[in-house]
Amino acid sequence: MSSSTTEYEKLAVSVSDEEGTEDVREAEVIETLRDHASRPRNMGSLPNPDGVAVITGDCTDTVAVAMRVEDNRVLKASFMAQGCGFTRACGSMATTLAEGKTLNDVLQITGDIIAAELGGLPDDHLHCALLASNALRAAARDALQNRNAPWRRLYR
Ligand code: FES
Repeated sequence: MSSSTTEYEKLAVSVSDEEGTEDVREAEVIETLRDHASRPRNMGSLPNPDGVAVITGDCTDTVAVAMRVEDNRVLKASFMAQGCGFTRACGSMATTLAEGKTLNDVLQITGDIIAAELGGLPDDHLHCALLASNALRAAARDALQNRNAPWRRLYR
């Protein structure tokens, strides 16, 4: 697990737009999930974020989330995913749910909520939603810490 901006920037140059779409195309999944996997919202890097996190799960998939915050509310959230297509769909839903919410509300977005909003996930991919929510919540915590101690940004 890492929250460093350097890791975030490294992922931004290595991740491809098509990464992981194949497994969702082949699975029996409902349309919302397929839609978020094939047309992910908020995918890409976000320059000068107020909060950022990069998390690698036990399965070796990685999700990075960055957010811009104003008045304690998420103005813009973006993600990058390296791994399976379900992770990509979960990053898309996680950042969609975060936008417009306060940081404290973002901290309540769990993997179960992300999976439910997508209409469900196959059992062996429930952890993809957990990975996305862990990255989202870590980015929100980073933004909260940066707000309380702005000097932290100098040491990213
Ligand atoms: Fe591990 Fe998707 S297969 S996060």
